[in-house]
Amino acid sequence: SMAIGILTSGGDAPGLNAVIRAIVFSGIQTHGLEFLGIRNGWKGLVDQDVFELVRHDIMGISKQGGTILGTSRTNPFEHGGAERVREVMESTGMDALIAIGGEGTLAAANRLSDLGLPIVGVPKTVDNDLDATDYTFGFDTAVQIATEAMDRLRTTGDSHQRCMVAEVMGRHVGWIALHSGVAAGAHVILIPEKKTSIDQICDWVTKAHGRGRAPLVAVAEGFLLDSMTDVHNERGLDAFGRPRLGGIGEMLAPMIEDRTGIETRATTLGHIQRGGTPTAFDRVLATRLGWGALQMVRERKWGFMVALKGTEIVDVPFAEALGSLKTVPDARYDEVSALFG
Ligand code: F6P
Repeated sequence: SMAIGILTSGGDAPGLNAVIRAIVFSGIQTHGLEFLGIRNGWKGLVDQDVFELVRHDIMGISKQGGTILGTSRTNPFEHGGAERVREVMESTGMDALIAIGGEGTLAAANRLSDLGLPIVGVPKTVDNDLDATDYTFGFDTAVQIATEAMDRLRTTGDSHQRCMVAEVMGRHVGWIALHSGVAAGAHVILIPEKKTSIDQICDWVTKAHGRGRAPLVAVAEGFLLDSMTDVHNERGLDAFGRPRLGGIGEMLAPMIEDRTGIETRATTLGHIQRGGTPTAFDRVLATRLGWGALQMVRERKWGFMVALKGTEIVDVPFAEALGSLKTVPDARYDEVSALFG
């Protein structure tokens, strides 16, 4: 029978275990296939750190955060490339590989499949910034966690009549900030796609405060002010225009406080957004993607990954997911920012 290797690579996302469970469970149960777990992403593949994945390993893991396989940000092309991967696949009897990962992982998978290796992919990112799929698993969970955190920040903000700044994940895109900010009723949402001036931010904050509200500012970690040179002098940024100490939330809070006179506190949610149990939505999406990936392997659709288009799980070539990120469109931001302040 066929033996299929599975690896998870890049930053983890809630739902990875649900993908693994779906693949292995239906593969063993319905098709009598065998599975090889690869530890810590591409690193475990080039190091031949591989073990037989059996039913017992995947029992009840859909609701568990993290990944039972472990992950890393290792690039296989810096460790022997296609030759090494082929060698390990041959010596472990691996007939196909399912790579679950984000842009970096899929780019490596794309190159390896171009070089003739039997690989399919499953897209993964909490940031929801992969282009070829409408949603990625882990995003809904991150939004849920960020929303709950902002709800909590609001009650303490209200008690003290403070402005609360919540920094959420999103290095390149503002999807988590946009969705959690809307859900929590933030008065200001700041995303990397939209440079904004400190004066504009303070204007919104002051307006909300004037209505007797504790202003809530949701900011994505990758957000930049429109004029970083002023801030450079004021707060001491590094050569790339990034704050030296803390993140953008920590940097904004004293700037808002100084300019508005409203006491302001910042909270950075960080990796809390990627930990713990996935939402039901993410478990279902992850499970469907797992089934889809297994189907692609059975059809030998190498060089493709599964994706969500509307409500359907479809196959798309790796190349479609690479090159450009799925950013928040202007129209999506505009409809929300009309309500700021
Ligand atoms: O890409 C997912 C993500 O969570 C980003 O939102 C964040 O900037 C980054 O990963 C954090 O990476 P690490 O886990 O390596 O600190």
